[in-house]
Amino acid sequence: MSIRPVHRARRFLSSVVPGRPSDQDLAWAGTFLTEDERRLFARMPATDQRHQVGVARAVARHGVEGAAPAPWVMAAALLHDVGKTVAGLSPYGRVVATLSEAVGGASMATAWSEGSGFTRKVGLYLQYPALGADLLRLAGSDERVVAWAAEHHLPEDRWTVPRPEGRVLALADDGRL
Ligand SMILES: [Fe+2]
Ligand SMILES: [Fe+2]
Repeated sequence: MSIRPVHRARRFLSSVVPGRPSDQDLAWAGTFLTEDERRLFARMPATDQRHQVGVARAVARHGVEGAAPAPWVMAAALLHDVGKTVAGLSPYGRVVATLSEAVGGASMATAWSEGSGFTRKVGLYLQYPALGADLLRLAGSDERVVAWAAEHHLPEDRWTVPRPEGRVLALADDGRL
């Protein structure tokens, strides 16, 4: 019997459930975060940590208007999705949440978040930008880091963060840098 299907399955699984960022990446990320922010970062699932390190690496490589990004920009890159931690949804639940939003509309999220069990988790997940901003405010983060967590899926004309920084952060988040 061929072992190839097993191989393929392993490869698939490792792409869906990646491990934590390398120690080197974690140490690098930590240099941009306060102690409380490092604690929030450490509570995120491995996939989210890797995504945010990837965004931060892209932002650092690209720079903002020809200069190295300010420290708050790096912290914003590393923590923008931190609110996802609150819902505690599995990758499967996240897919369901995203599809539910497409069907029920974003306004359903508030009602769902007041429900119980899985429905509540879905509702919380859909509100993660606001929840992330709350977590960061409590952690005493820079107000622009707080703002970016809340605003990173909003159209540019609703940003309070400076546009040059916001644009670089948004492009990096979309994997377009
Ligand atoms: Fe996000
Ligand atoms: Fe993101």
